[in-house]
Amino acid sequence: MRRSYVHGESATAVATAATIASTTTVTTAPTSTTITATTAATKLTAMDTHDITLTINGTEHDLSVEPRTLLVHALRDELGYTGTNVGCESTLCGACTVNMDGDAVKSCTILAVQADGTELRTVEGLRESGTFHPIQEGFQKEHGLQCGYCTPGMMLAATDLLEENPDPSDEEIREGIEGNLCRCTGYQNIVNAVEYAAEEMRADDTGSTETAAADGGVPMTDYEAVKEED
Ligand code: FES
Ligand code: FES
Repeated sequence: MRRSYVHGESATAVATAATIASTTTVTTAPTSTTITATTAATKLTAMDTHDITLTINGTEHDLSVEPRTLLVHALRDELGYTGTNVGCESTLCGACTVNMDGDAVKSCTILAVQADGTELRTVEGLRESGTFHPIQEGFQKEHGLQCGYCTPGMMLAATDLLEENPDPSDEEIREGIEGNLCRCTGYQNIVNAVEYAAEEMRADDTGSTETAAADGGVPMTDYEAVKEED
């Protein structure tokens, strides 16, 4: 698996090259230092990119990334999934949250090579067949966003919570999204939005609520009508 290659042979080779270069700098004459350092640099250049495959919202993407490329940058800059935002780049704000193999993760602290072979869901993948996901509906109906910067990450954290716990209490919702910060501080409405989504998803599962569309949400074509209702 490429992941073990990156953490195994590749890492060893890089460390070896670095050791050779630094050792040589101390112990050998300037001329041979230059030659050896160049050789090490050449090795590093040769390992500059890795071929990985990411399945995003059901679509497989093959790409080459540098070992240092963060998953969030691969998503946004290499593949154009710009719905995933970048905030702190240090696991604090949650703006970069995506779903990887069924769990919400912060894509600013995962290397793209570590995500090789995984299935990812981004905010673009929440809408299915032209229909909003209940969590999107909830944010719209309950006014769960202001500037919207935290919203994609909030939605991915919330869907992860609802997939694990379809009927969360107010407190459980707050715990579920505690890794995501909203600079506009609209937390109460965000909690309301998650509660709305939980209800809709449960109703959709049982098929017992007329307000839930048969396919689980509001058709995109009805979006303007929904806005009018509000
Ligand atoms: S950008 Fe990833 S947690 Fe803030
Ligand atoms: S809506 Fe502005 S950061 Fe949350």
